[in-house]
Amino acid sequence: MDKAEYTTWLEIDLGAIRNNLRQLQQITKKPVMAVVKANGYGHGIVEVSKAAQEAGVGWLGVARIDEALAIRRGGVQCRILVFGYTPPERIPEAIENGISQSVYDPQIAEAYAGQARRAGGVLPVHVKFDSGMGRLGLFPEQGVDFVKWLNRQEGLQVQGIFTHFARADEPLLSTTDWQIGRFQGMIDELQALQLRPQWVHACNSAGSLYFPQGYFDMVRSGIAVYGIDPSPEAPLPAGFRPAMSLKTTLVSIKELPAGYGVGYNHHYFTQKTERVGVLSVGYADGFRRRLGAEAILRGNRVPVLGTVCMDQCMVQIDSVPDAAVGDEVVLLGSQGAVSISAEDLGREWNTSPYEVVCGMSARPERIYVDHSSRE
Ligand SMILES: Cc1ncc(COP(=O)(O)O)c(C=O)c1O
Repeated sequence: MDKAEYTTWLEIDLGAIRNNLRQLQQITKKPVMAVVKANGYGHGIVEVSKAAQEAGVGWLGVARIDEALAIRRGGVQCRILVFGYTPPERIPEAIENGISQSVYDPQIAEAYAGQARRAGGVLPVHVKFDSGMGRLGLFPEQGVDFVKWLNRQEGLQVQGIFTHFARADEPLLSTTDWQIGRFQGMIDELQALQLRPQWVHACNSAGSLYFPQGYFDMVRSGIAVYGIDPSPEAPLPAGFRPAMSLKTTLVSIKELPAGYGVGYNHHYFTQKTERVGVLSVGYADGFRRRLGAEAILRGNRVPVLGTVCMDQCMVQIDSVPDAAVGDEVVLLGSQGAVSISAEDLGREWNTSPYEVVCGMSARPERIYVDHSSRE
């Protein structure tokens, strides 16, 4: 579809996604699992998965089985790992669709094995270890016994072992080093017993950039794939590009007299006669309801007046005399030399850029482009 048909849309640069994955492959020299859960961090799970496959990625990571099934329905062949819990009754679907599943609990693993046997198949599993995240996973000290036990479960095949870092995006190195050490100790024990599976993995994006000692057989990267810094302390190196822009349209222009209240609860009053534009974007699109927002119009930053409404917001456009109804306006991304990044919005919204992109709603159409030629 042509974007002219929409008033508000998310422009997703699949060239940036492919580029960022290649950067990660070059930096780590390891296979990369592209983490595409949460609708590809808001970018669109099927299209991002296809772009990852084109970039030579062999693995995709998701949180839920329904995400994995959506990828398969999209025709993507990559291996897929479900990180989170899957109800045992759905294991036959996982097997049928070639999906690997995390296991972190003997009772659940037993139920999975039972379902796999009943379905007449084998479920490939990756054992999840809690080396210091305090979330899903067995402690590494339980690893050898659990892997031995799993190997005896007919219907399961131990394909991988993994852990997740809690603080790899912080300047403090000691926690991640400690996690890697704990995990490595268990892997060494398994290796000595010839129980080490094919795929051992630990690093998220920050780990992939800053902790080569944690690479093992593969890295799992999410935020870096989308061209966003894991944190201010763990920035991306040069060469990565953000993939998402949020764009809208200027749909009305009028002059308001001095002292005129703008928007719900009149959080703004005009100081003088002011030209005010109405944008067709609001918090129901993912552009948060807050004071002090900004937009880019004809290459100029313009202030959003008052609070953002559900479907619209108002901007002061005195600094852009040639602005016209129909103009494209950028809320996230670049126009001319001016840009507003997910990191900027994260700071302004008092949250992380992860939440900025994952928080884009289903309403704005995702329009897929490839800006590689602009590099
Ligand atoms: C298990 C697991 N691995 C990898 C990732 C990717 O993390 P990041 O987006 O920081 O690269 C996530 C995301 O939260 C995750 O839950």
